[in-house]
Amino acid sequence: MRTSPSQKCGVPASLVRTQVAIVGAGPAGLMLAHLLSLDGIESVVIESRTRTYVEHRVRAGVLEQGSADLLDATGAGARMRSEGLVHHGIQLRFGGSDHRIDFGELTGGRGITVYGQQEIVKDLIALRLSAGHPILFEVSDVELHDIRSDQPSVSFLLDGASMSIDCDIVAGCDGFHGVSRDSIPAGVLTTYERDYPFAWLGILAGIAPSSEELIYCYHERGFALLSMRSPTVGRLYLQVPADERIGDWPDARIWEELQARLAAAGWSLAEGPVTEKGISAMRSFVVEPMQFGRLFLSGDAAHIVPPTGAKGMNLALRDVSVLAEAVAAFYAAGDTRLLDEYSANCLRRVWRAQHFSWWMTSMLHRFPDHDAYQAQLQRAQLAYTVDSRAASTSLAENYVGYEWATT
Ligand code: FAD
Ligand code: DHB
Repeated sequence: MRTSPSQKCGVPASLVRTQVAIVGAGPAGLMLAHLLSLDGIESVVIESRTRTYVEHRVRAGVLEQGSADLLDATGAGARMRSEGLVHHGIQLRFGGSDHRIDFGELTGGRGITVYGQQEIVKDLIALRLSAGHPILFEVSDVELHDIRSDQPSVSFLLDGASMSIDCDIVAGCDGFHGVSRDSIPAGVLTTYERDYPFAWLGILAGIAPSSEELIYCYHERGFALLSMRSPTVGRLYLQVPADERIGDWPDARIWEELQARLAAAGWSLAEGPVTEKGISAMRSFVVEPMQFGRLFLSGDAAHIVPPTGAKGMNLALRDVSVLAEAVAAFYAAGDTRLLDEYSANCLRRVWRAQHFSWWMTSMLHRFPDHDAYQAQLQRAQLAYTVDSRAASTSLAENYVGYEWATT
């Protein structure tokens, strides 16, 4: 039996036919499904976690100008516009004082929007479900089949029952630990990667943020970052050793370390109840190409950046914009040119973000093998970055999202 998933939303048949099967309901998978539905293209999203889990997973917070514009232009930006915080600069703090990078002035009025990733996930899930389109949560044993052919399929278990989705295209939006990338035969992908000898400990705290703008802080004890989610919720990060355990960081120790690193004359850091805390590894990773046959990888499934440049979610949203356009051209005129060019069209932006994220990470963190000479190089780079208009502009245009002048 072949049943349209839109007829069977919530009560899936064991064998479903759709146009695009989307693995993963993170920002990449959900935005792709949304963009395709605007083009009248049918998709099914499958997700291994519960809806509650994905709606409460605390991760990114910074939207580039282009990402915020994308949410707006596609009718998914209403809550972001009313609750998100638009910023036109960041502070670089080193040697105990602040140096502002003025995005507005340096990039012709562009900026960022601080809005939690899980809020975008909530908004996109609500839009999709209210339109009657399917997201199947809590699937397991996901396998991709026949991705080399033009009739691939995805099989999985839902509520213990076997299901299969036949489709034209599979979008692997299942993050770094998903199954899609590993479904590509050995030898096809080239992998580029770098691990960092430290991690980020992140907290959410019930406090009014002590700064209107984000503060990226270089300190001899290690990097610290002050961010926020709302006028009453702060988001703060500390560089910690790569093998650190969260259990070794009671709240009092976290605040003590934040106070030591973020200290600046005439400024104080407000403390409040810690409502969430966790440690995230730092990694740079890219696979090329981002496609094989009818499988297209998007977002963290294809590439990871260390979070210092705030690029991961933004790249995920850009990938799926490129993919949605290519899929639309394919269905409109049977034209596979944009599908064939998908990987190359994404990778130029991916590598720009790789370099920026690596550069910000290298400039702002303490590396265990750094000697006094290396620390002086970092200070020299920071001083130049805030003093030179050219260097400040480079940071600013990358942070708000670099738009290529050439196509
Ligand atoms: P994910 O969000 O990982 O979504 C993948 C989904 O697939 C998940 O829901 C997962 O459960 C599901 N899945 C996995 N395996 C399967 C399977 N087998 N079957 C079905 N579903 C599956 N980025 C920014 O742009 N700005 C920031 O400020 C920023 N800050 C960050 C701070 C931290 C501490 C961290 C950890 C990350 C940060 N990032 C930031 C990165 C950003 O969170 C990721 O790049 C983003 O989540 C990528 O989205 P995605 O949809 O590709 O992958
Ligand atoms: C946040 C995360 C980042 O990785 C970053 O560079 C800036 C802000 C945040 O979660 O708010």
